[in-house]
Amino acid sequence: MNTSLNTLIFLNFRRLELTLKHLISPMDFTIEETNDLLALAERIKDNPDKYAHVCDGKKIATLFYEPSTRTRLSFETAMINLGGQVIGFSSAQSSSAAKGESVADTIRVISCFADICAMRHPKEGAPTVASQFSDIPVINAGDGGHNHPTQTLTDLLTIKLLKGDLNNLTIGLCGDLKFGRTVHSLINAMVRYSNTRFVLISPNELRIPDYLRKEVLDANNIDYLETDELEKNMPDLDILYMTRVQRERFFNEEDYVRLKDSFILDEKKMQYARDDMFVLHPLPRVNEISVSVDKDPRAVYFKQVQYGVYARMALIMKLLDIKEP
Ligand code: NCD
Repeated sequence: MNTSLNTLIFLNFRRLELTLKHLISPMDFTIEETNDLLALAERIKDNPDKYAHVCDGKKIATLFYEPSTRTRLSFETAMINLGGQVIGFSSAQSSSAAKGESVADTIRVISCFADICAMRHPKEGAPTVASQFSDIPVINAGDGGHNHPTQTLTDLLTIKLLKGDLNNLTIGLCGDLKFGRTVHSLINAMVRYSNTRFVLISPNELRIPDYLRKEVLDANNIDYLETDELEKNMPDLDILYMTRVQRERFFNEEDYVRLKDSFILDEKKMQYARDDMFVLHPLPRVNEISVSVDKDPRAVYFKQVQYGVYARMALIMKLLDIKEP
């Protein structure tokens, strides 16, 4: 092969490498990029028709090796709302993973079919592996107990729209802080805003992992309290982020049964909260929020689902490098 052809191939390869962007962890975007993306999501929310054809002819593949209702359908709705189309599978059993195919091979195949993909996998790091073998942007739609960056974009957009600002907030995170990937990603994202304070409410056995305490909270000098008391801390909170106990990540059912109802938010506990405090939940809810709380105007978890579609529409546009119409 002559040298100039070699150089051309090399340059093209570099171009592909440099321009291909993935979202694996919330830290993959700078705070400026995150804020720009949230601003785009807000513009989409205010004028969805303007964006109805920006992805005409594009396809998203949703590769879900773990159960999902919201996240997969939210991605698919987001792409359809942008004018694009959807392919994918919703369980490992219905994909060639059941025959033993590796994530690396699957993503090489999917790269021939789709323009972008969202992957959920029970193994931490699987979307990272996929991104290393992919010719298309890979979005982590949840990897084991590790990260869930698009839920975080949803959460940030919800907080921004309801509180007006992402700075100076006291955020209560309640429930399974050990295995809850949405909690881990939200902590990583929120420490970048000014004057964030966390109240980490969980049973002792379900406290946040050590690496988060040391490498994220302590390393950034974040003000936080670890406690097993919800009621007492309610009056301090701007946001209460409830989570379910992650049954599928427990080693034994006995521990799950003992811990599953550690915290139940009900109308009585809501009386201790401020009028401008909002309750978020990534859903699905099991028992941790009594259904009687749903009618409280401060309960915004279903609104949060709707905002998730706008956040994912903005994300798809960004990763596909689609210009604002
Ligand atoms: C969360 C998840 O999958 O981590 N769900 C979601 O994507 N909205 C939370 C959970 O399953 O508890």
